[in-house]
Amino acid sequence: MISPLRTPLCDLLGIEYPIMQAGMGLIARSDLCAAVSNAGGLGVIGASGLSGEEVRDEIRRVRDKTDRPFAVDIILPMNVPVAGDADATMPPVPPPPAWLVEMWREHGLGEDMTPAMRVTGKLIRKQVAVILEERVPIFVSGLGDPSWLVPDAHAQGMKVMALVGTPRAAQRVARGGADVVIAQGYDGGGHTGRVGTFSLVPQVVDAVAPTPVAAAGGIVDGRGVVAALALGAVGVWLGTRFAATDEARSHPAYKQRIAEVGPDDIIITKGYSGKTCRVIRNRFTETWEKSGEEALPMPLQGARIGKKTHGAARELGITELGSMPAGQAAGLIRAVLPAGEVVRRLVAEAEAVLPRLAPGRPLAAR
Ligand SMILES: Cc1cc2nc3c(=O)[nH]c(=O)nc-3n(C[C@H](O)[C@H](O)[C@H](O)COP(=O)(O)O)c2cc1C
Repeated sequence: MISPLRTPLCDLLGIEYPIMQAGMGLIARSDLCAAVSNAGGLGVIGASGLSGEEVRDEIRRVRDKTDRPFAVDIILPMNVPVAGDADATMPPVPPPPAWLVEMWREHGLGEDMTPAMRVTGKLIRKQVAVILEERVPIFVSGLGDPSWLVPDAHAQGMKVMALVGTPRAAQRVARGGADVVIAQGYDGGGHTGRVGTFSLVPQVVDAVAPTPVAAAGGIVDGRGVVAALALGAVGVWLGTRFAATDEARSHPAYKQRIAEVGPDDIIITKGYSGKTCRVIRNRFTETWEKSGEEALPMPLQGARIGKKTHGAARELGITELGSMPAGQAAGLIRAVLPAGEVVRRLVAEAEAVLPRLAPGRPLAAR
């Protein structure tokens, strides 16, 4: 039986349900991606932070685990030129703040000041080259404008999707040939814009029609899926819900934090990356805010605070230090689940909500 949730996105991408797992850098790897695709959604490799050859390895691992469509997501933090080397002009990375070095010491993380890998134009071009060579079914840009790579992607038979936070940015990427626009609202985990999901999605739908739009930010259950469809979206893109799954590549302590926090625990900071990023509050974010320092522009801020700060929660479970992106709806997530189970629950919940909205039924009975 065809699910009542089937939308044009399913036909466009070759998936069963219009449910997409967001690309989450270093967290959404082959295990999560394949589990979601095998359950009938769209799994996505979060390739931001991976070298070109690591991206290739992840793509091949996904292909070992599923023959269904999947995507690769990277962030395009600047106007990446197709040729030339913009990196040569990048300023040097300043040393980390003293309070951060002290926190490293407290947690036994040593004196090594190695800055985090920079998201440079060179790295992005390498990632893109690998994604094109591997003919990944779908390319997603998590930040920035992918228009410059759309012709090459289409020539390879690939689809392109782009995350945006405003109707204007949506029009830009749609004009550039994006096949799907993902409207990510303020509610969402990770890098986020200023407009709330409920306000943003219908404005983007109107701005780029007939280009299909998916909704992101604050969707974690079947009610959210149906609401997104009611706003005119043809699919949903969920990060935080899939970050709290068995297959997400992160420390259990971080997943557990997602399953116990409420909206008051979730804030926006520029302290980790230099761009507004929604994360779970911790000692790092509080000390950063109190320091009164100005964040350096991306990618310098991320490089300055060092690799070990970024990975502390994700890899070591040091939740007081490391970055823990999570969206405002995390308070609805109370258990870490297998990713396939998340897809099945979303579908079952959404299918249960739909008949309750049937015409003629009094609101009180819904
Ligand atoms: C842990 C985490 C990491 C993320 N990393 C990325 C990323 O690398 N690239 C990207 O496009 N978006 C990233 N995002 C944002 C997601 O793509 C998505 O827009 C967002 O999670 C949607 O909101 P939600 O978390 O409420 O579902 C991340 C989100 C989270 C929660």
